[in-house]
Amino acid sequence: MKKVLAAVLASMMVLSLAACGGGDKKETEAPKKETEKATEAPKETEKATEKATDAAKETAEKATQAAPAADGEKLKIGVCIYKFDDNFMTLYRQELQKYLEETYGAEVTVVDGKGDQAEQTNQIDNFISQGVDVLILNLVQASATETVAKTCADAGIPAVFINREPDAAELERWESEGVAATYVGADARQSGTFQGEIILDTANKGDINGDGKVSYVMLIGDPENVDAQYRTEFSVKALTDAGVEVEELFAQRGDWDQAKGQELTANALAQFGDQVEVVFANNDAMALGAIEAIEAEGRKVNEDIYLVGVDALDEATAAIKDGRMTGTVLNDHMGQSHTAADVAIKMANGEKVDTKYTVDYVKVTE
Ligand code: GAL
Repeated sequence: MKKVLAAVLASMMVLSLAACGGGDKKETEAPKKETEKATEAPKETEKATEKATDAAKETAEKATQAAPAADGEKLKIGVCIYKFDDNFMTLYRQELQKYLEETYGAEVTVVDGKGDQAEQTNQIDNFISQGVDVLILNLVQASATETVAKTCADAGIPAVFINREPDAAELERWESEGVAATYVGADARQSGTFQGEIILDTANKGDINGDGKVSYVMLIGDPENVDAQYRTEFSVKALTDAGVEVEELFAQRGDWDQAKGQELTANALAQFGDQVEVVFANNDAMALGAIEAIEAEGRKVNEDIYLVGVDALDEATAAIKDGRMTGTVLNDHMGQSHTAADVAIKMANGEKVDTKYTVDYVKVTE
């Protein structure tokens, strides 16, 4: 088994983090094992950022413990991303590569699946024939997980699946058959619930026209993704659980894409006009598109319409500060990428890991 020089680097990193943070080890909820439910979270952007930093600090500390002994040979890591042209996954993959190289001195190759599962399957086969030590996989289609996990297992290469959650049955199979595979992500139900709670926290609980119900537009990501399914379901469920009546005016897929978010919102506003009180976007990219459509119609966010997203992209948090978006939910790419990296290194060194790791979401409002 290959080993990598990292202990020294990792401890240097932890020392410098400790120095920056005054040496205080703060509590963090991320990363952590699956099972815990969504909990109340701080509302301020500052707190969200602080929490993400704490998560990063904690994963760096964990990395030190996980760091393999040095023998001068670099670990080879293949990373497959479903497509490079995705705002959130761009932040994620850049941080993942940086962290793996800087903390573990790993040799990392990241490839673009271009939204095509067949192309990505070839890329995975190539990595396997190159003899990588571990694969980190953001599949184009989560439904391909079982096939891909079997291919990796047959080749004796551990696999860390990220971002697109596989079926529970597949995770159980890994557990019962002792497959060297794991999933690192976040519980999308929590992000949906937080979106709904942000609307409940507005002055009129989303019922701007006072007709006794919240009439909304739903911008759906890629409907094959659990993230899109759960955010769609749980954002609305937070309202109905609080006894608020809802009316769905419009719900269409926008594939996580800003231009599509703009187009769909423009269509919804053309069709339903002032009836639209809330726009739920499954992610910030689509919400940023929605802002353009809302403003083009002369509507005013937080006055005659509410708009929420997920991810906490810089552009979205800036829009919240400027009153052009009601809120978002931090999708912690730092915590997730660091956890994925730490777990990948452990697996490359033959350690047994859990079948699932999740990182908390955090509400972000003005
Ligand atoms: C989600 C994220 C989206 C998009 C998607 C890709 O978690 O919120 O913006 O990146 O993953 O699967």
